[in-house]
Parts: sequence; structure tokens; C-alpha cells
Amino acid sequence: MATDRWTSRIGFILAAAGSAIGLGTVWRLPYVAGTEGGGAFFLIFLVLLLTVGTALLLAEFVLGRHTQEGAIRAYKHVAPKGQWQWIGILGMVAAFLLLSFYSVVGGWIIAYLVRSFGGQVTNPPDGDYTALFETITANPWEVGIAHLAFMIMTILVVQQGVRKGIEKASVYMMPALFILFAVLVVRSLTLDGAWEGVVFFLQPDLSAVTGETLLTALGQAFFSLSLGVSVMVTYSSYLGKSENLPRSAWSVVLLTILIAFMAGLVIFPGVFAFDLQPDEGPELIFTILPAVFGEMAFGSLFFTLFMILMLFATLTSAFSLVEIIVKPLIRGKEEKRVKMTWIVGLLIFAMGIPSNLSFGVLADWDVFGDIFFNQVDYLVSNILLPTGAFLISVFVSWRVRKEDLQEEMLRGSNRGIGFFNTWLFTSRYIVPIAILVVFISMI
Ligand code: TRP
Repeated sequence: MATDRWTSRIGFILAAAGSAIGLGTVWRLPYVAGTEGGGAFFLIFLVLLLTVGTALLLAEFVLGRHTQEGAIRAYKHVAPKGQWQWIGILGMVAAFLLLSFYSVVGGWIIAYLVRSFGGQVTNPPDGDYTALFETITANPWEVGIAHLAFMIMTILVVQQGVRKGIEKASVYMMPALFILFAVLVVRSLTLDGAWEGVVFFLQPDLSAVTGETLLTALGQAFFSLSLGVSVMVTYSSYLGKSENLPRSAWSVVLLTILIAFMAGLVIFPGVFAFDLQPDEGPELIFTILPAVFGEMAFGSLFFTLFMILMLFATLTSAFSLVEIIVKPLIRGKEEKRVKMTWIVGLLIFAMGIPSNLSFGVLADWDVFGDIFFNQVDYLVSNILLPTGAFLISVFVSWRVRKEDLQEEMLRGSNRGIGFFNTWLFTSRYIVPIAILVVFISMI
């Protein structure tokens, strides 16, 4: 069993919120909302976060804290005879694939950051921001090295363990992220023409909603809270027995919602103020934000700061994705951590190479109708995460003894049995059925 622990509740919450808040919220949410119709998508996403998402987050917290084990052993601990550890293995595979393309975007951030020091980003030749994105991603060396640099930064933190590495990095990075985001919201909302973007982002047009929209919103809700791959099981396994789980879960969800709002309010006003298209896809923030910053005083300075914060948000999420894989592999032998972290991190980098190149030299490589990057994202976000979420919810709510669940959830909390029963009902029936319905509506 691991002896490493979070030093404080706030350390745990910031690390968990750090895992949750990342590219999914700041980069993926705005562009899928942009392609799925804006406000309606966001509304559905919020409802899912507050119901299914929160219930599942609590389920993962309860399992991790109860067993004090990571992805594989947590399931074995509860059900030694069954085959439930496959949920953990599925999670490790999903985390591996997820980080393979996630780290590519981490690399783009580094590439933009480096270029922004020269003021090149907010002032491209002819004001063509899309061309800049294409130039950067088309050069395999530039994005390749940046991608590797991102993975090495992640490895250097995770190899130091939970308390000295992940928590320490998170308690500095997360507050900094909130503060600069607030500054940027003000800047974006005061742009001429900002209002149209706010309307697009917040006004729901439910007629645009299809089965695919629901599935995407569900996948996005899991993605945003880092659910379905046992990341939150792993993080809460390092938590002391007296911490209040419901309160921690709400804190993480509310912080995520706050940042999601702020991200939308930074990005969409900018999109509309500069007549750009909100449904551009993965490159959205990389072509739009430089344009937005380019228009303002000290734009290049703000842009650089923003990229630093994006880098923090992305790193704190990447830590969790590596940790969930490393912890089961070292089986409690902390002396193996450094080596294993390097092996896992570099394999993820290798797996990410085709995703990286699919915006450049492999752009014409058609993988079942889309580029490799988007297909890996689709496989993870719309298939593996909902499947993992389904299994975790079923496992925790049906397989863990009810008395253990209740004791684990209510210890240190002032919530009553009514809260517990509502959660249990939601996890046993509503979450699995919601996932099934959305899956079936797809076929
Ligand atoms: N939640 C992170 C984001 O929104 C990404 C992430 C980190 C994640 N760990 C995860 C997503 C585990 C799913 C599962 O950017």
C-alpha cells in the first residue's frame, strides 16, 4: 500500500480539480460546443455535470478512499474473485490513448508559447492566423520536439510522487489559472461585438439537439471531470480517512463549471467580435485567441501569459493520466516509480506521433473517414469513457457493500442518509440507464 499522501484537503481538491480542468474544459468544450450548436450543448453539458457527473465522481472517490488502492487493485480488493479488474485495465488503456493526443495539444501550446516570446504569434504576416497554425503543425520537427518536451515535463513531476510532485505543482498552478482567466474574461467581454458570442454560447436552441449531441455532451461531461478511467479512484486513494467526500466532489465540480463558463466567455465573444467561425474544430483556440489578443494593448504579453496558464492546466491533467497508469504497474514499490514513469511517458509520446502528424504530413491519411487524431479522440471520448463510466457506476453501487459505501460517503460529512440514498439510486439506475440510452440512440 502506498504511504504517499496528500498533505491537505485543499491539496487534494486542487490536484483533482487540476486533473479535471484542462484542455477538455478550455479547448475541447468550446470547440465541440461550437460544432454542436452552442448554448443548447452547454446547457445539456451542465445538467449532466451536476447529475450523472457528480454521482460518478463521488463513486470514484468512495471506491478509491475505501480501498486505498489504484486502478487494478481497487477492484480486486472489493471483488477478489470476479474479473472486475478489467475496468481498471480498460481505464489504463483509455488514459494511455487519451494522453497520446492530449499531449500533442500540450505540445502546440509549448510551440505557441516559444514563438510568442518573439511576438510572432499575435502578429502573423498578413494577419492570417490560420496559416500560422498550419505552418506550426505542418513542421514535424517543431511540433514533435514540443510534444516531447510536454511529456518530459509531465514525467519530471509524476516521477516525484503524489505529495512532492503532483500536489506541489497543482497548488501553485491552479490559483494562477483562476486569476488570469478572470482578467481575460473582462478583456473579452469588453470587445466590440462581444455580445453575439455570449448569446451563441449561452442561449439554448434545443432544436439543434440530436442523439449525437447528447452523446457528445455526455462524453464531454466525463472528459471534463476526468471520469471513467479510474483517475479519481487513484487520486482519492491517497486521501486520509477523515476527509469529507461529498464536499470535495462538489468543490471539484463547481471549480470545473466556473472555468468552463470563463473559457466560453473568453473564447466566443472573441470569435464573433472578429468574424471567425465557432465550429472550426481542434484548432479553434489556436487561431482565435491570437487574433483576440492581437487586437489589444500588450496583446502579446497577455497571450504569452495565457499560454503559460494553458500549459499549467494541461500539465495538471496529464499528471493524473500518467499516475493512473504508473500506480498499478509499480504495485506499491515506490522505488520503481522513476523508471516506470519514464517508460510509460515515452510510450505515450510514441503513440501520439501519428496524432501529431495528422495535422501536417499525415493530413491526407484517411482513417475511417477522418484524421487519426480525431478518431483516437472519438474512440476515447465517445466510446471508452462512457463504457468505463457505466462499468464503474455499476461496480461501485452494486458490488461494494452498502454499509461500506454509506460509511465511506458520510464519514466527516454532515450529509444524511437521504443524500446517500439519492446518490445510490442515481448510481445504480440513472447513470447506467442514461449511458445506455444515449448509446442506443446512436445506433
Ligand atoms: N479532465 C481533463 C480535461 O478536461 C482531461 C483528463 C484528465 C481526463 N484525466 C482524465 C479525461 C481522465 C478523462 C479521464 O482536460
